[in-house]
Amino acid sequence: MLTKKATARAHPNIAFIKYWGNKNNDLRLPVNGSISMNLAGLETITTVMFGDEILEDRLMLNGEQQTVEQTRRVSRHLDHVRHLANVDLRALVISQNNFPTGTGIASSASAFAALTAAACSALDVHPDEAGLSALARLGSGSACRSVPGGYTEWYAGVDHQTSYAASIAPAGHWDLIDLVTIVNKEHKAVGSTDGHQLADTSPLQAARIADTPRRLDLCRAAILQKDFEPLAAIIEEDTLMMHSILMTSSPPLLYWLPATIRVMQAVQSWRAGGIPAAFTIDAGPNVHVISTTGWKDKLVGLLNELEGIQDILPTTVGGPAQIINEHLIP
Ligand code: DP6
Repeated sequence: MLTKKATARAHPNIAFIKYWGNKNNDLRLPVNGSISMNLAGLETITTVMFGDEILEDRLMLNGEQQTVEQTRRVSRHLDHVRHLANVDLRALVISQNNFPTGTGIASSASAFAALTAAACSALDVHPDEAGLSALARLGSGSACRSVPGGYTEWYAGVDHQTSYAASIAPAGHWDLIDLVTIVNKEHKAVGSTDGHQLADTSPLQAARIADTPRRLDLCRAAILQKDFEPLAAIIEEDTLMMHSILMTSSPPLLYWLPATIRVMQAVQSWRAGGIPAAFTIDAGPNVHVISTTGWKDKLVGLLNELEGIQDILPTTVGGPAQIINEHLIP
């Protein structure tokens, strides 16, 4: 009996400059670069166990055996790693999120970052960080940004090797927080993978792509200089641009709920009153309220006074994806 196993941990990330649309859907080569921050406090821990007695890939997610259909995306991803290792072993994948699925937190980023790191380690494939990030990208685009630590930038690139993320500042660089403000726990009707394919149907997408270098430069500079005001301005603008694409795609995707807009407006008025707070929203109705650690309790209190808030998950800046074999799930 031959078994090779490893366990990895990765954090989800929140994009400040968003990835929306691919120039190559199979390789997940994005039309624009993006910048994000890893979220400490939220994590996926994944054990991958390859064995010659395992007849087909199996996936246990949060203690529940997944169907063949649900396992397919994971299985296809493992094929890339098997190919690099030149083996044909099937695997048992055991994955756990410490955040509830369906809370609007993109679990695919932490899931594919942890899966890639664990599968590579188990099969003794050791790409450098850029190579690991590029590999994770094949499973889910945003996963490439959860491989390096802290604040990361995904370079769009022109082919598989050149499309990866790297850290632009470590987690300890700036004590930002993300108060993930849940206004709806339901699963969204259209997932990101399908959404990316609609991006080009919006006549506004070309303008958004052309303008991306400006937004990336402003966001990167604000992070490096730890300057909250310009960061707030550019991340809110980027969110509104991406949602303009969503709303004008065909079919259109309108994710905002009344409580979404309530939080957006409250955040802007708190900022006008001197509190460092800014919103960013992925392809869903929940709002990520970005601030700094010292303002956490004040902002949680203010958010809880708003109508329609179901939950608030406070997070700080997270490190890179890591192998943690001491946590090996038996
Ligand atoms: C709106 O990375 O989830 O969160 O590559 O199909 O897995 P796939 O898409 P995914 O898209 C994320 C879109 C976003 C913006 C972002 O995280 O940059």
